[in-house]
Amino acid sequence: MLKTEAFDVEKVRADFPILKRRVHGKRLVYLDNAATTQKPKAVIDALVDFYSRYNSNVHRSVHTLGEEATEAYESARSKTAKFVGASPKELVFVRGTTEATNLVRFAWGDKNVRKGDLLVTTLMEHHSNIVPWQLLAKSKGATLKFVGLNSDGTLDMGSLEALLDESPKLVAVTHCSNVLGTINDVAAICAKARRAGATTVVDGAQSVPHLPVDTGEVGADFYAFSGHKMLGPTGIGALIAKKKTLEEMDPFQGGGEMIKQVFQDHSTWNDVPYKFEAGTVNIADAIGLGAAVDYLAAIGMAKVREHEVRLLDHALQTLSTVKGFKLYGPQDSQDKGGVISFNLADIHPHDLATILDEDGIAIRSGHHCAQPLMRWLDVPATSRASFQVYNSYDDIDALKVGLDRAGRIFKV
Ligand SMILES: Cc1ncc(COP(=O)(O)O)c(C=O)c1O
Repeated sequence: MLKTEAFDVEKVRADFPILKRRVHGKRLVYLDNAATTQKPKAVIDALVDFYSRYNSNVHRSVHTLGEEATEAYESARSKTAKFVGASPKELVFVRGTTEATNLVRFAWGDKNVRKGDLLVTTLMEHHSNIVPWQLLAKSKGATLKFVGLNSDGTLDMGSLEALLDESPKLVAVTHCSNVLGTINDVAAICAKARRAGATTVVDGAQSVPHLPVDTGEVGADFYAFSGHKMLGPTGIGALIAKKKTLEEMDPFQGGGEMIKQVFQDHSTWNDVPYKFEAGTVNIADAIGLGAAVDYLAAIGMAKVREHEVRLLDHALQTLSTVKGFKLYGPQDSQDKGGVISFNLADIHPHDLATILDEDGIAIRSGHHCAQPLMRWLDVPATSRASFQVYNSYDDIDALKVGLDRAGRIFKV
């Protein structure tokens, strides 16, 4: 039962060499996609092709290899920008979501945040959308406050409205929670925040890999995502912002290629987005991300989402029959990204993940870099199964069998 009808999963699986691997003699069931995804052959080939045929630095050399590398790097920028409804000049290549929020902290925050200002984030954020704002608040004498949550794991809009009444300088929110799976109406949140005079940052780490995303429609001042969570390589991601916004910001890092002219006492800056890409950039991985975007675009993000909703429906139905299963976050697949966080009675998530590993099943256990959320849930940790295009009903059925076995071992 490998087909989920949105597309032929068996055919997709054949594109991912790692899925042929066996773990402890069992078929690999990879359900740790919110941490990082596997890579299709097209992405691996793009990396090998770059290093074996035209490895060279970009934006410098006029020789053939240099021109080919520059063209491939810029073509990856154009494809990735188009994939999220942005223009190439609006896309800064960064290491990932974490570097993107830190870039905003320094290049926007240092210039714009003053003593006494209010910064707002939410209780469902990944640490990368909390800690940079804590650091910014501390360095500027500003305050950081959190939007609360409803018991179903959605954002408490009343709490957001109350904070907007305090005229915050910044509102930072995730598009999709990496723990609860909650999909936030970020377009509405950004519109409200803008009316309140706030600059907005949206963390797209768990949305761009799973949903059709149009950053123009979202309307955030800054939208960040990571390549490795969307079938691309590690070490590459993007920050999307309007050209004017980028132009008004200070540089993030100083060095080669981000300048126009350097004198002994001052320098002038390169055009955006290059002003934010100091030094030798991550050329190979940007090209790899371009290949991942091609791969996802060929399937179509509406189909990817449709597939994950089917997987979610199947998982919510199947796993709810497991004795002691407790789900966190929205219960309806329509409100949820492809993430299922749960606990099984009082089995520690690390024990559970270790038992499942014996069955070849990879899930994540821990605080998922969301400790304020864990405190709100009043648990030290959860287990998390998360999906991508290559997951099938069989994977979920294997997870259920593994959880039943763990339940028997721990006498749930
Ligand atoms: C919602 C969310 N935001 C941000 C991040 C950080 O991404 P990266 O580690 O690629 O910078 C993650 C990674 O787990 C995430 O799930």
